[in-house]
Amino acid sequence: MSGYQPSLFDGADTAGDQAVVRFAGDFAGWQRAARRHLAAAVPPEAIWWQPAPVSFEAESDAAAARASERPGTIRVPKRFVELARAAACHSAPDRWALLYRLLWRLTHGERHLLSLAGDSDVATVSGYAKAVRRDVHKMKAFVRFRAVDEAGYETPRYVAWFEPSHDIVAYAAGFFVRRFANMRWSILTPERSVHWEGEGTPWFSPGADRAQAPGEDPLEMAWQTYYESIFNPARVKWSAMRSEMPVKYWKNMPEAQLIPKLVAGADRRVATMEAARRDTDTLHCGPRPASPAAVTEAAAEAYPAFSLERLAARAALCRNCALCGPATQTVFGEGPVDARLMIVGEQPGDREDLAGRPFVGPAGQLLDRALAEAGIDRQEIYLTNAVKHFKFTPRGKQRLHAKPDYDEVRACRPWLEAELGHVNPATVITLGATAARALLTREIAVTRERGRPIAWHGRTLWPTVHPSHLLRAGETNGPGYARFVADLARAATE
Ligand code: URA
Repeated sequence: MSGYQPSLFDGADTAGDQAVVRFAGDFAGWQRAARRHLAAAVPPEAIWWQPAPVSFEAESDAAAARASERPGTIRVPKRFVELARAAACHSAPDRWALLYRLLWRLTHGERHLLSLAGDSDVATVSGYAKAVRRDVHKMKAFVRFRAVDEAGYETPRYVAWFEPSHDIVAYAAGFFVRRFANMRWSILTPERSVHWEGEGTPWFSPGADRAQAPGEDPLEMAWQTYYESIFNPARVKWSAMRSEMPVKYWKNMPEAQLIPKLVAGADRRVATMEAARRDTDTLHCGPRPASPAAVTEAAAEAYPAFSLERLAARAALCRNCALCGPATQTVFGEGPVDARLMIVGEQPGDREDLAGRPFVGPAGQLLDRALAEAGIDRQEIYLTNAVKHFKFTPRGKQRLHAKPDYDEVRACRPWLEAELGHVNPATVITLGATAARALLTREIAVTRERGRPIAWHGRTLWPTVHPSHLLRAGETNGPGYARFVADLARAATE
């Protein structure tokens, strides 16, 4: 302490054997004071750090003040500056002394101090920085702006209320400036508020009262509806949810007001989903059935009580084979439950996988045209596939169709059986070899057997080619296509 003149700096005074250092109570203010005291070789134990309330003009002046300081006088690792900038926002009163102690040690022979994770100063500053970053993360995630008309402007100002745990408003402001650069906005908090005019630099003002923040606006309704639609009851983990989205933020978040209601219904919805999963478990394919009739009978026994919608809901959870993993969703059949004609394809393609509906891609469009020319109304038939998940091989950004193997066809067969049992069509058209094999449980040469009826469990089954075959062969108008139309027409009328 010898030679130290506290009164030279920042209005310092003495408290016992420590010098009271008053400084603008933010990182920039501490930085200026710390530089001067370090340059004067004032040791950490000699200082009592006394932050003054932040002057809001000082925030904007801080950058200018930093620029005017002599650069390069103190060299510290960049990581320290980052840690210190974050830790300075922590609400712990000892943070300023801690930062100066670290600065002192780094510049007095402990240059590698920060790599000593077990050092108590290093552990404390890291903990402070982590807590602050977590608070900033919450602010980024949970700030909800509401539009407020502002006199003299055609566009609204967006105003949000937030209650941080630490003094992070200035620290986090840059994120909001970048993110909402073109809007005029204010974020009000109990300690200080930040404002952006769509250009220039953000400015700060004292803390606000929650009552100063606006209430609801129409955007909230839209946001609530969206949140309700994406809410997945099976994913509700109360403790994780409360720690990720602490209850104190809920009152400012329109969607959070839905949480109690959604969660109250969650148990019931999860129970329904689990019951569906249990039902689905009974559909696991066992060993290959002794005869096709055995499968049909088992399926008929299993499903009579289910509506087609319930079956589709259960199929959505199907895990009978590995195709459910990469596929987007189960593509169940569609059409009237009393359809007289059922058409069975192979498996959904890329477009069907994304849309969740059968035959909506290029093959589906060709089928639609052929159906129309054959005088068949798509709305009156039941359209489905032997396999309900898209099997593909990724190739760059593309997903190339891959033929399902027989085990996958068998794994899916209970669903097809169930659809047949429900719809009970008199006539079934199979498109391509996979669909024919799925039902007949034997391989057939489609090109030889097409256009000829096969008596099958009290129904008539008509095999024909798959429209993708016509697409691949470039036969979308010629004789191949005409024959396909004729096959469809004959099956529908005979
Ligand atoms: N091919 C099929 O077999 N089914 C579809 O749903 C689409 C393409």
